[in-house]
Amino acid sequence: MSRPYNVAGYREQARRALPKAIFDFVDGAAGDEWTMRENRAAFERRAFLPSVLRDVSECSLATTVCNREMASPIMLAPAGLVGMMHPDGERAQVLAAREHGVIAVTSSASTYSFEELTDAVPDHRPWFQLYPYKDRGFYGEMVSRAANAGFTGLCLTVDASVSGKRERDLANHLSVRPLRVTWGNVTGAARHPRWLAGVLRERRIVARMSTEALGQDRPTLRSLLRSAGDSAANLVELLPRQSTWEDLEWLRDNWSGPLAVKGIVNPEDARHAARLGVDAIVVSNHGGRQLDGIPATFDLLPRVRGAVDEHVDLILDGGVRRGADIVKALCLGASACMVGRPWVYGLAAAGVSGVNGVLDILEEEMATTMALLGVRSVSELGSSHLA
Ligand SMILES: Cc1cc2nc3c(=O)[nH]c(=O)nc-3n(C[C@H](O)[C@H](O)[C@H](O)COP(=O)(O)O)c2cc1C
Repeated sequence: MSRPYNVAGYREQARRALPKAIFDFVDGAAGDEWTMRENRAAFERRAFLPSVLRDVSECSLATTVCNREMASPIMLAPAGLVGMMHPDGERAQVLAAREHGVIAVTSSASTYSFEELTDAVPDHRPWFQLYPYKDRGFYGEMVSRAANAGFTGLCLTVDASVSGKRERDLANHLSVRPLRVTWGNVTGAARHPRWLAGVLRERRIVARMSTEALGQDRPTLRSLLRSAGDSAANLVELLPRQSTWEDLEWLRDNWSGPLAVKGIVNPEDARHAARLGVDAIVVSNHGGRQLDGIPATFDLLPRVRGAVDEHVDLILDGGVRRGADIVKALCLGASACMVGRPWVYGLAAAGVSGVNGVLDILEEEMATTMALLGVRSVSELGSSHLA
């Protein structure tokens, strides 16, 4: 298969590689998928205004997020259950992030355990995504387990108190909470022999596909529950449905490293989070997978930027498919962008080399865009570069 030259090409290869139900789980969103479409449309509505005759012989994408140097302003968003796409799973996420000198934020619904992920990249520490839990014992154990494994930053996802209504999953009879993937709803698995061989080779994924109990699909959570002497069924009570700002406050008091809060779009919430001392806000609508009807994050970014002090890094999440999109977000005050589906498409298409391929494309497109705008470094980007 030829190497795609854009993210859309990786999406197409992922579509061919995966059974329909699995591809739809990645590609789909909630409700009418309006928010997901808007995330893209907002980037398309905004045009560039280049400056010509500038020396752009040297162009650097390097930046810092939460005082950490990164080779480019791209972060790999948390994506759970990606072992279903390819046996490399979240290991591909951390390996590609290390290769590119950027931050991977691994999901608490990972197919691999905390330690398996950090052991894969001993010289490059990823961040860990978690949800706010009312049960302080469980919450605390999750934080200390992440710290002991070597995660250096935490990302608290606050827009998933319940699951969004994902109609493609309903049509495919695919249930994620609890995970219910059966050979029946992975229709046409035999038509995807490479995918089938991959998941069969990786026993943990097969185990996951036959499990029905919530928690059993999450090795990170499952091992915690085991150590807490709890039963998987109790995990239902630990879902973040009852979470409040106190849970963020508690996390800030109990975690001294970089702390990002993901899923904020309302300027008032951004102010509140900043007052509680978060280091970064991920301006995110979960890629449209939760509440359908939220405007595009790119459209909401300026209002959030205006609400919080410059020392709080804003990370834009949702709809990024081009290096040019990242440049536009930086022009409006983001420090970096997260990409979710793009790296998962790369994973499904070609494992770790596919995730690396997606990052290569985004970086090359960013560099070309910046040179054509007449800009040599990300710190030079501002609203004057947008029409
Ligand atoms: C397959 C998949 C699984 C996801 N799992 C999680 C998760 O476990 N935790 C989380 O905070 N966000 C999760 N997300 C949302 C992403 O982190 C991110 O917000 C979203 O994908 C951004 O939109 P984009 O896909 O257009 O880049 C997931 C997204 C996808 C596509």
